[in-house]
Amino acid sequence: MSDKKICIVGASGKLGQYIIQHALDQGYKVVGVCREKSVYKLSRYKDRITVIPGPTNDRNVIQKAVQGCDGILTVLVPWGVQQYSTGTAQAVLDFAEPQARLIFSCGWHITKDGKDRYSWRLKAFVKFFGWVARAIRLADLDDQVEACRRIFSSDSRWTVVRGSDLEEGESQGLPVWSEHAGDQILDSNLTRRTDFALFMVHALKNDMLIHEAPAIVSCKSPSALAYSGSN
Ligand SMILES: NC(=O)c1ccc[n+]([C@@H]2O[C@H](COP(=O)([O-])OP(=O)(O)OC[C@H]3O[C@@H](n4cnc5c(N)ncnc54)[C@H](OP(=O)(O)O)[C@@H]3O)[C@@H](O)[C@H]2O)c1
Repeated sequence: MSDKKICIVGASGKLGQYIIQHALDQGYKVVGVCREKSVYKLSRYKDRITVIPGPTNDRNVIQKAVQGCDGILTVLVPWGVQQYSTGTAQAVLDFAEPQARLIFSCGWHITKDGKDRYSWRLKAFVKFFGWVARAIRLADLDDQVEACRRIFSSDSRWTVVRGSDLEEGESQGLPVWSEHAGDQILDSNLTRRTDFALFMVHALKNDMLIHEAPAIVSCKSPSALAYSGSN
């Protein structure tokens, strides 16, 4: 049993619940933050984790939740048009213990250094979905971009894990990663959601990933099998 305590911000979503399971399997003590109306989704963990209900961009909620935590895993989502992602990320950056490992989730569309190369399909999706989502006030992709800009410019011990397209299913093992979307190893563009979560929990102990924004893909995908070890 580890004596390390971690906080999962956005614990009730699909990714968040997988993160909880992997963290418990690896012996971490877990604090989860989720919206009050979603607490019921965590009922099967109720005796094993501490749940702090509240919006993840509520600074008081985050301050309380991350106190004394060695790691914080944050599911960054761009829902709504009230800078939910940015508020969440900023609160985590402001209130995390100075040496805590901070792991954030997002998609390949986020770029750290502008050197990612995107398919026309991804570019069209981001443009179209981004426009429609903002028009109907469902989501604001620029919010996740701004959240990540703040993370990238922070001195904290962060890692931003960038997910490919996701699917459900049994674990296939720890995903492989590359620095830039467009690298051949990522061509298959598919990862099991449980393995996205596994990579985030793995990142807590992998200091090589500090200040990196790994783009991940399933280790069993054709492109990973074809190109692992070649770059
Ligand atoms: N979906 C994909 O194909 C994909 C691909 C690449 C990367 N990613 C990344 O993976 C992460 C999670 O993705 P996911 O698809 O697995 O989603 P998810 O885990 O189901 O996460 C959704 C999260 O958003 C919250 N949420 C939903 N509606 C909300 C609202 N209106 N206001 C505030 N919070 C709301 C949920 O909280 P409640 O439980 O309270 O509803 C939950 O914490 C994100 O960082 C995303 O960028 C996703």
